[in-house]
Amino acid sequence: MSLRAPVRRPGERKGLDFHRLGFGKSRDTVCMATMTFQGLEVLYSRQQIADRVAEMGAQISRDLNGEKLVMVGVLKGAAFFLVDLSRAIGAEATFDFVAVSSYGKGQRSSGAVKLIKDLDQSIEGKNVLVVEDILDTGLTLAYLRKLFLQQHPKTLRIATLLDKPSRRVEKIEADYVGFSIPNLFVIGYGMDFAERYRNLPDICLMPAENPE
Ligand code: IMP
Ligand code: MG
Repeated sequence: MSLRAPVRRPGERKGLDFHRLGFGKSRDTVCMATMTFQGLEVLYSRQQIADRVAEMGAQISRDLNGEKLVMVGVLKGAAFFLVDLSRAIGAEATFDFVAVSSYGKGQRSSGAVKLIKDLDQSIEGKNVLVVEDILDTGLTLAYLRKLFLQQHPKTLRIATLLDKPSRRVEKIEADYVGFSIPNLFVIGYGMDFAERYRNLPDICLMPAENPE
């Protein structure tokens, strides 16, 4: 398995060519390549994440129109996002969590999604918000959406912190997207590489070379 992130060319030590990677100049895709944390290149800083999560929370609150919400986090990656997002939502919210396996220890999905932990409570008739860290191929969320719809929730929406539309295999979009990114492998703020790096406070790029 290659630990090499697909983002650098020879001689490209620092500073990514974000236009080559598909970044535009929109607010969501500001180049942060000059910032580092513990030697890692920061894609979105903790402050940028906090600002965007606050905006998402306000939007979700408006859409709820005073109704209650069940937030369903996809373990483990979405845990940080769910905790922060829930505090940015001005509505009564309860939590549930599911766990799925699809990625094993590498960077790429095997294609098969398996439910490891189911919902604790029924979501029938409830306003459900599925909270995910990254919408990548869409296999995970397409699987979960089908599973949850069988329980006939009142509404079923999806909030994802990151979206990689270029990697999509399943036809699925999130209702709320934090940042849309090109095909980069990211770590931090809940997101891992082989279970490591989840507790980095910023969203960073997976380094090109693994030091170990
Ligand atoms: P999907 O089923 O391909 O959409 O995969 C979604 C899951 O893959 C996410 O919830 C993440 O756990 C994982 N994943 C996808 N891309 C990344 C990444 O860049 N860093 C860390 N995890 C990722
Ligand atoms: Mg995940």
